Amino acid sequence: MRLIFIHIVGLFFLSSIGFSQTVRERISLDFDWKFTKEEVSNAQEVAFDDSNWRVLNVPHDWSIEGEYREENPSGKSGAFLPGGIGWYRKEIQVADKHADDKYFITFDGVYLNSDVWINGHHLGFHPNGYISFEYDLTPHLKEGKNTLAVKVDHSKLPSGRWYTGSGIYRHVWLTKTKNIYIPQSGTFVTTPQVSKASASVKIVTSLKSELKAAKKITLKSIVRSNTGEVVSETTTKYKLQKTGEITQNIQLENPKLWSPTTPDMYTLESVVMVDKIIKDTYSTPFGIRKVEWKNNEGLFLNDTPILLKGLSNHQDAGALGVAVPNDVLYHRLKLLKEMGCNALRTAHHPFSPEFYAMCDTMGFMVMDEAFDGWWRPKAKFDYGNYFADYWQKDLEGFLKRDRNHPSVIMWSIGNEVHKFTNEEQKILVDFVKSIDPTRFVTQGRGYKGTHIDIAGFNGHGEFKNVLEDYHAKNPNQLIVGTEITHTLQTRGIYRTQTWYRTKDNPAPWEKPEQFAKMENKVYKIPNLSDEEVFPNITNKYQSSYDNSIVRIGVRDDWNRVEKYDYYVGNFRWTGFDYLGESFNWPARTANFGIIDLAGFPKDHYYLYQSLWSNEPMVHVLPHWNHQGKEGQKIPVVVYTNASSVELFLNGKSLGEKVMGKERQLVWQVPYEKGEIKAIARNKNKKVAEDIVRSSGEAYSFQLIPSKTEVYANQTDVIRCEVNIIDKDGVFVPDADHLVEFTLDGPAKILGVENGDILDLSSNKAKFRKVFNGKCVLFFQSSDEAGLIKLTVKSTKLNSKTMTFKSLKVIR
Ligand code: GAL
Repeated sequence: MRLIFIHIVGLFFLSSIGFSQTVRERISLDFDWKFTKEEVSNAQEVAFDDSNWRVLNVPHDWSIEGEYREENPSGKSGAFLPGGIGWYRKEIQVADKHADDKYFITFDGVYLNSDVWINGHHLGFHPNGYISFEYDLTPHLKEGKNTLAVKVDHSKLPSGRWYTGSGIYRHVWLTKTKNIYIPQSGTFVTTPQVSKASASVKIVTSLKSELKAAKKITLKSIVRSNTGEVVSETTTKYKLQKTGEITQNIQLENPKLWSPTTPDMYTLESVVMVDKIIKDTYSTPFGIRKVEWKNNEGLFLNDTPILLKGLSNHQDAGALGVAVPNDVLYHRLKLLKEMGCNALRTAHHPFSPEFYAMCDTMGFMVMDEAFDGWWRPKAKFDYGNYFADYWQKDLEGFLKRDRNHPSVIMWSIGNEVHKFTNEEQKILVDFVKSIDPTRFVTQGRGYKGTHIDIAGFNGHGEFKNVLEDYHAKNPNQLIVGTEITHTLQTRGIYRTQTWYRTKDNPAPWEKPEQFAKMENKVYKIPNLSDEEVFPNITNKYQSSYDNSIVRIGVRDDWNRVEKYDYYVGNFRWTGFDYLGESFNWPARTANFGIIDLAGFPKDHYYLYQSLWSNEPMVHVLPHWNHQGKEGQKIPVVVYTNASSVELFLNGKSLGEKVMGKERQLVWQVPYEKGEIKAIARNKNKKVAEDIVRSSGEAYSFQLIPSKTEVYANQTDVIRCEVNIIDKDGVFVPDADHLVEFTLDGPAKILGVENGDILDLSSNKAKFRKVFNGKCVLFFQSSDEAGLIKLTVKSTKLNSKTMTFKSLKVIR
């Protein structure tokens, strides 16, 4: 985790070349903003009185603070949460401003249509809600107090096909350097030749000077390994006019190659000097890896074939909306890593800078997606309305921002772009290649165009024979499942009869009759029983057996990936449940995730783990609380990556089964209260075990915090999982108690969530119902150190208290 922050933040210390000097400074502007959603006029003026505005820190998302209401214009796309107009103001103090100082402000992401002013001067309008942007503050900044004002206009909705959030929802930075400098994203590090023995590193550095006369400058480029040791350096002298570009080449022996299993990073430190005086310092984390897409053979990373075990995700994190703290993002990615996932798709726009830094250091390959649609809007008020005027500037900013990340292995220029033409695709691809010729380009459902390097298939590629037919006609084209597989699950819910979305619960754009036409094209999954064993489930919830599907199931699709060399892998829809895009009120989401809105894995998580991970595992479903069904046969399903599993009911063996292409093992078990145990074996040796027990009455809570210590930095967040348990500590899978949280000490509640797509209560309350036994609480440290006491209560249950430490930050 530390590494990540060294890469993102970190001031620049030049001990390696004999200096111990900080030159470029990057200062967080996240704290102490004033905010209002009231209608105001002239709030950009310095003299405006904001004394009665709310004080808050960013990242901030005001939509998730609102109520879920059917009449909110975001509708089912935006989870029925509110938009509106919001104003932010902040004071910046500047000491010792020198004539040769340069100041920039960077917004990592503001949703959307933002106007920014400094001291009443308008800096610019930025409609894109996802790509980072920067303004030069230098001419307008003065010594002492300066006033920053930001208007965020999210009054026209829906502005996206998913939940977008509203506000300054990512970090804000002030960068200070000198007037001869490397502009934002001004370095480009590539590795033209890579082998185990050596690698060539090509460094292209852009430079800017604000001086009238040309200056002789020196650029020193130092490469450090991830332990901080200098592994190479090179120096170039150059005569700089207004702008310039220097290319340097370095050779490294025995490089540490980057891959998902060895996410080794290097850092380039660029030092710009004039007459031995340092003018700027710039740090670029990068990695050394060779990515090759070979016709008919697949994807190779560092000369080794690799499959994309990928997930598409939206950026929101349930209760926290789109303002996702680093701790929470890290926890989410860790969960995916433990599942064996090695690739992520940023659906359908640029993600936060921290996301890519974590993918670099944790080891994920990223399909970095720029846009959903292009010149034609997909949601009424989305970026399509601005595309013609802004796409080049935004796409350039995006490519340059992300091009040094080894995790980014390909670009995606769009997703299910409405009515795109081949010429349009060419314009976008050519533009990408003009900035980054090193990576392949794809497009979600872009296979009909002829200009992308890898054919991207979404839902249509889930029908029988579609990939096979495409391959027969285009034998030299690789295929990636840009959005495959779509399946649905609700945590803790089971249905034994197979359920097709189109037939059993059509999306608003589908009719049940349509299924008849598709029936022979979809991959069938047999029912697990003749009669439905769990008939009383609302059809708003989906089954957690692998039998609630759209067109193809997870197992059938993974068999295709393993079988066809030309099919390099897939990005399923989705890893996490995301807010919005529900099938209709009163649902907040459609349950496509394999992890719910609260971050709790559903059974599909374990199915993927069995297919993708090499760590021995076994997982049993369903839960074993089925009072009233005594003697009735219940399908017990087991996922494992071991070769066989023996199942036991209350200590009695129900036989051993060997895993085959079905990718799951099923026993029909007459229900009897007690315990189901699965023992997984490789060559008769036990490698993993899973037990599911029937619980007694709900009694108390089990609290599982993500950590027990935080820093008093107003940033660190603890995620505390709450499980309802019986007297013996057994999880109660159908509990639905209302739970109340009390925090004493220097911390505040950031959000509560339970994963229930139909629970429309506030995410910002101090209480939450558990859904199928579980809910989650997020709380954040303040700037005071001390003890934080969390008490969790519910009527009829024994309360539970846990204490956490908030440590003083030593600067
Ligand atoms: C796809 C689309 C995704 C999401 C998904 C839901 O067609 O690309 O953004 O809408 O459908 O099924």
